[in-house]
Amino acid sequence: MAQDDAKKIAGEAALAELPSEGIIGLGTGSTTRFFIEALARAVSEGAKYVGVPTSESSRSLARSLGIPLLGDEGPWVIDVTVDGADEVDRDLHLIKGGGGAQTREKIVNFASKRNVIIVDESKLSAQLGEQWAVPVEVLHFAHAQTAAQLKRFGGVAMRMRNGEPWKTDSGNFIYDIATGPIASPRELDAVLHAVPGVVETGLFCGRSDIVLVAGASGVRRLVRGSV
Ligand code: A5P
Repeated sequence: MAQDDAKKIAGEAALAELPSEGIIGLGTGSTTRFFIEALARAVSEGAKYVGVPTSESSRSLARSLGIPLLGDEGPWVIDVTVDGADEVDRDLHLIKGGGGAQTREKIVNFASKRNVIIVDESKLSAQLGEQWAVPVEVLHFAHAQTAAQLKRFGGVAMRMRNGEPWKTDSGNFIYDIATGPIASPRELDAVLHAVPGVVETGLFCGRSDIVLVAGASGVRRLVRGSV
């Protein structure tokens, strides 16, 4: 099955995880895009959903499709957030931030009563870090100093786009840390947060209630605590 087909199946399957109406966190990325499109269809048929976007790209997509949105300032009481992930381990911990949106995504995740993660099978790993580096959003001020401090965790690469440093929606930089397989994602997240200048990491530990995994045999529903 083509990866895009699996992403579409996962995105559309997430609709079944929503209440009949409510406040919905809108993740970021190519898989979430399919979810936002499905949500917009439900809204156009009369469903009363209001979104909280996790990025400017999700905001403009949702807005263009007619999904009503809340403002950025919060506080919100979000019923369910649906978001993608770059890597999922057997405890349903995640690496996110392939699109550089992990800080807003984490704030919205923590404001949600439930978090549903949508992925295709290629995202599953025994341990985080097997396939993906850990994206770390770093404050613009002294970012090279902060990056030097991050080198003790693995090879550090500043994320670039078209020859320029990639800037997040909040005007910061992303450094990707090639840690290799991560024995304890929670511990790594804590020590990364202790480095001055680190705004947020792409490690989401214990923050997925349900993971929907789409593949050739359909959608598997993984529930935290029972995998
Ligand atoms: C955005 O910063 C990310 O956290 C995405 O949710 C993640 O990279 C998954 O993206 P895809 O669905 O495009 O693979």
